[in-house]
Amino acid sequence: MSVFNASRLLGKTVLVTGASSGIGAATAILFAKGGANLILLARRADALKAIADACTTAHKESGVQQGGKVATIQLDVSDKAQVSGLLDKIPAELRAIDVLVNNAGYVLGVERVGEIAASDIEGMFATNVLGLISVTQLFIKDFKQRNTGHVINIGSIAGREAYAGGSIYCATKHAVSAFTGSLMRELVDTSIRVTEIQPGMVETEFSVIRFRGNKAAADKVYEGLHPLTAEDIAEEIVWAASRPPHVNLAEVFVLPVNQASATLNYRGNRL
Ligand SMILES: NC(=O)c1ccc[n+]([C@@H]2O[C@H](COP(=O)([O-])OP(=O)(O)OC[C@H]3O[C@@H](n4cnc5c(N)ncnc54)[C@H](OP(=O)(O)O)[C@@H]3O)[C@@H](O)[C@H]2O)c1
Repeated sequence: MSVFNASRLLGKTVLVTGASSGIGAATAILFAKGGANLILLARRADALKAIADACTTAHKESGVQQGGKVATIQLDVSDKAQVSGLLDKIPAELRAIDVLVNNAGYVLGVERVGEIAASDIEGMFATNVLGLISVTQLFIKDFKQRNTGHVINIGSIAGREAYAGGSIYCATKHAVSAFTGSLMRELVDTSIRVTEIQPGMVETEFSVIRFRGNKAAADKVYEGLHPLTAEDIAEEIVWAASRPPHVNLAEVFVLPVNQASATLNYRGNRL
């Protein structure tokens, strides 16, 4: 935590989508430790509540006076009506968002083109791309009016590099990367920052969901190497958010030490 300039996070309000597990949950907890207020979004209300409690505990233990307010909102980012009603659900005292972390996303399956279920294609695009865009549209107007704010989008190595068996997920993350790049360019004459975090392999619920609940298949993805943890990516996100206001970390491409591309890794070494 010492490398972060926590004072730059004090009393800031951070909204995290997909905060009920994995990267989003770890990010929320680290921001809470740094003295931020949190708005946590996801579909699973119980899991969100548990992360909100963990944020409150982390904030208390940090001894920081500022921040520590936590609101949870059950929300499916792929549901346009739910997203358009989101502003009304945010407690009035937390409406001025400083950092938007667009993290909600998933991959389903490894099917080849021609064999992919239409519902899987639509679901991944609706969440990873359309959901991220509609949440961004909602807050960017306010960011522009106040000439402040930071959009942090969670892309992926899959947004830099396509691989077999990942056509739809790779297409969604390439779209996230293109959208993020356009947004940063559009905002060049403002003080609004735009960051894309591009992780390689991170061990979360991600692969369990990809393999439709098959934990053994998910575990095989990480076998023999030391994958990133959700906390590793949370550190990059909080690092980006805690840079001085004139510094924009545009892209952060972060890999486990034994991963060199989407398909090249070394599994002989258990660190
Ligand atoms: N793990 C990796 O290897 C890896 C690598 C690169 C990038 N990423 C990206 O990192 C992000 C987080 O993934 P993770 O690894 O932390 O996986 P995770 O543990 O499965 O977390 C995904 C989060 O997204 C939420 N979510 C999914 N669909 C949603 C929807 N329609 N509306 C609202 N929330 C939704 C889930 O909450 P609910 O189910 O409660 O809604 C959950 O909180 C994703 O964008 C993923 O593509 C992951």
